[in-house]
Amino acid sequence: MNGDQGILDAAGPAAERIADLWWAHFWPGLAVFVVVVVLLLVGLYRRHRWPADRAHEARASLWIGVGGIVVPAVILLVVLVFTVRSMAQHSASSRDAEERGLSIRVVGYQWWWDITYQDPQPSRRVRTANEINIPVGRPIMLLLESGDVNHSFWVPRLQGKLDLIPGQTNTLWLEAREPGVYRGQCAEYCGEQHAHMGLVVVAQPPEEFDRWYEGQLGTAAEPTDSAALLGQAVFMRSGCAVCHAVRGTDAMASVAPDLTHLASRQTLGAGTIPNTRGYLGGWIANP
Ligand code: CUA
Repeated sequence: MNGDQGILDAAGPAAERIADLWWAHFWPGLAVFVVVVVLLLVGLYRRHRWPADRAHEARASLWIGVGGIVVPAVILLVVLVFTVRSMAQHSASSRDAEERGLSIRVVGYQWWWDITYQDPQPSRRVRTANEINIPVGRPIMLLLESGDVNHSFWVPRLQGKLDLIPGQTNTLWLEAREPGVYRGQCAEYCGEQHAHMGLVVVAQPPEEFDRWYEGQLGTAAEPTDSAALLGQAVFMRSGCAVCHAVRGTDAMASVAPDLTHLASRQTLGAGTIPNTRGYLGGWIANP
């Protein structure tokens, strides 16, 4: 849901750099293709008119030397310079994000994303799932880990992909220039539901993000009407609490998504279906 995943439709500085690099490869590639096709057509057309003499052989050697060695070497050198420059800028931005960024731990599981906002004070750590809210215009540091197999974090409009590997923490920074919802996807085959391991990054103006954060710090809203009270009783009785947590209740498990503020999220099942009352009912009845 919510928007595309086009790498050329960059919405943040990291993705812009990747898109620039893509174009820096595309245009020389296109130029080479056109030149080769034109030469091929000329060669086919003129084949019979060229006598096979010494002068022609010398000319052929020159073509091979220039077209086959010098030109490719120059093009590859230019592309290499672009690539190395992008890599250098990328690591500089990564260091910058580490120093002044908000840092968020993302743990991949089959098949969902466990999200914890880091804060020196444990009571200020927000835990959620499959959805990462970030303030715009500020680099965010992601600490990527895996709880089971290899996964890969990829939000194409904001940043390139990076693997989540068991027993290791990989760091990736990202930043969004404009408020918006950016869809992401697990990009490493991780089992039968791999294709359904999506996520969304919600970029908000800083004040809105701060409000969201404060809201997430709170415990779940107390049920008030009889239907909600019955729902809570069913939840606590039926084994849901063996895997899920709802802060403010006795449900404190952490092997499945934290459901404390589930209603504030846009999707269910790691981006698989929209979070509406109907879909939620269907998901509970038959996930
Ligand atoms: Cu997780 Cu593919």
